[in-house]
Amino acid sequence: MSKRVKTAVFPVAGLGTRFLPATKAMPKEMLTVVDRPLIQYAVDEAREAGISHFVFVTGRNKGVIEDHFDRQFELEATLEARGKTRVLKELQQDLPSAGRTSFTRQQEPLGLGHAVWCARDIVGDEPFALLLPDMLFKSRRGVLKQMMEAYEETGGNIIAVEEVPMAEVSSYGVVGRGDGSDQSFRINGMVEKPAVAEAPSNLIISGRYILQPEVFNLLADQPRGAGGEIQLTDAMQTLERQQPFYGVKYEGQSFDCGSKIGFLTANVAYALDRDDIGDDFLAALSRIGLQNRLMDGFRVAAE
Ligand code: UTP
Repeated sequence: MSKRVKTAVFPVAGLGTRFLPATKAMPKEMLTVVDRPLIQYAVDEAREAGISHFVFVTGRNKGVIEDHFDRQFELEATLEARGKTRVLKELQQDLPSAGRTSFTRQQEPLGLGHAVWCARDIVGDEPFALLLPDMLFKSRRGVLKQMMEAYEETGGNIIAVEEVPMAEVSSYGVVGRGDGSDQSFRINGMVEKPAVAEAPSNLIISGRYILQPEVFNLLADQPRGAGGEIQLTDAMQTLERQQPFYGVKYEGQSFDCGSKIGFLTANVAYALDRDDIGDDFLAALSRIGLQNRLMDGFRVAAE
């Protein structure tokens, strides 16, 4: 039987240059989709999947993430005194239990692979989940939970994948499809940001992983790859020659909140779905003429 996955790593040390100036003093992972920071969605997803230890790889200007997962006695006392018990309860529910969070620093943003390596001593010799908080998934069942179910069957290493138009593969890590079903299959090769002609498929790596600890040894000696960064995909490529990797095509919709378009679309999708503000938001959108512009867009697309 495969070892249970109890730890999740959240790399949050990137510079977030695509969101400057918003991210000059504030971490990208604290940007909000409606009223919850991106990092909170990722922690919620990990908890739903049964994770009990939350490891954050932070950097400069990221102290606010540590504060976010701490209690705020003054705020709590004020909410209590004002009778705002519902929001107080929600705040308390959002927190991982005492002693279940760990923080370490990536002193220089040398790339995702390097950020993951920085968590090696905290994770130890155990399989772990890895969640990139800027990838947000709207799904009935959390994406990591779907992956955990696959992991219980197969063990090994699991990567969440999704299909994109072939013309877009060069912006992502791409996997080759081996044996298996449409939803879950053995991965056969992977490559970071390939040219379209060299891409093994249109299945991209989507920011959720379950990895075996041997990846840390490979990351220790991993030379810089695409973009001059230490790339996780390069180390996984080597690991894949030694251990099985499986792709899970998850059910749900993804939003790349590291890009402005993905982030704004996520806000619209989540806000429209909210019982408390969805209808009012739709009305506000129609007041700025958005519905008409959408209909024009559909008409253009149909022509
Ligand atoms: P991204 O490449 O999307 O984040 O990394 P970035 O580098 O901060 O963004 P841009 O391109 O400059 O706008 C995905 C995740 O990996 C983390 C980021 O914080 C993000 O959550 N990361 C990336 C690190 O922790 N360290 C790194 O060196 C790079």
